[in-house]
Amino acid sequence: KKPKIFIARAIFADALPQLEESFEVTSNQSDEVLTPEELQKALVGMDGALVSGGDRIDAKVLSAAKDLKIVANIAVGYNNLDIPAMTAAGVMGTNTPDVLTDTTADFGFALMMAAARRVTESEHWLRAGKWEKWALFNNPLGVDIHHSTLGIIGMGRIGQAIAKRGLGFGMKVIYCNRKRLPEALEQECGATHVSKEELLKTADHIILVLPYSAESHHTIGEKELSLMKPTATLTNIARGGIVNDLALAQALKAGKIFGAGLDVFEGEPKVIPELLACSNVVLAPHVGSSTEQTRRAMMNLAIKNLRAGLAGQRPPNLINTDLMQN
Ligand code: GLV
Ligand code: GLV
Repeated sequence: KKPKIFIARAIFADALPQLEESFEVTSNQSDEVLTPEELQKALVGMDGALVSGGDRIDAKVLSAAKDLKIVANIAVGYNNLDIPAMTAAGVMGTNTPDVLTDTTADFGFALMMAAARRVTESEHWLRAGKWEKWALFNNPLGVDIHHSTLGIIGMGRIGQAIAKRGLGFGMKVIYCNRKRLPEALEQECGATHVSKEELLKTADHIILVLPYSAESHHTIGEKELSLMKPTATLTNIARGGIVNDLALAQALKAGKIFGAGLDVFEGEPKVIPELLACSNVVLAPHVGSSTEQTRRAMMNLAIKNLRAGLAGQRPPNLINTDLMQN
């Protein structure tokens, strides 16, 4: 008998025939994020599931999914998976690291540059027929990227890939991280470890690339924003909740910082009106990894994890490794 799998969001359609050879596949045809109640119902009787960041897997959702062995997340971040609850229920969790590192680092740079050079704001002027009113020497002028100081908070794989891009722009790269990188890796990234306070005070452009946790909740709030230079930008490609969005909107409105680039939000897919009202912020709907190649690679890696888990093998990106001793 084929194992049963549930696919919580539409994946590339050409992947389905192969999956259907091995599994009895049910997918969420609407492609809308399911409510917790819908997800709980959908997982009843399933052996495995492919989910994304909007799908929260917790004890309640797991309680009715007695046959579930593995949940493969199509994302590197996995704060949507309650790992202790999954471990307690004997359900493996996997993510998709590495395959999206460079694509996501590119997007961090894109947002940072768009915020610094006011790309979307100037496009709005052009589209509104106001080209002639775009002053040459008065506002709104941008701030430079090249040879400025890049501050990276969270120095995992993506943070390191951003640091290397910064070097190409002649930037001075500083970072803070829970753990300092080994010296060889610091040298490779051309990055200097500093305290969070020093980073906030001295960086011209700050990019957040740390995982979300209770500990990283509101890493950037009113106090941190007040330490930043008025000419600085802040870019969040990590997770909503790492920034206090309301405090950021207030700082942007008051000109306490120059601009921001945001791919993630507290309570997404909703964005607070205070942020939408700011012209000096570039907004994106959580698309950091969304190129054709990378989304395919993420999907394929998640499927590989799912297949391994359902074949009784150790999935390559198993998160709760304590479920498997060897
Ligand atoms: C996207 O946000 C991811 O974690 O892959
Ligand atoms: C986080 O997991 C990263 O890849 O930076």
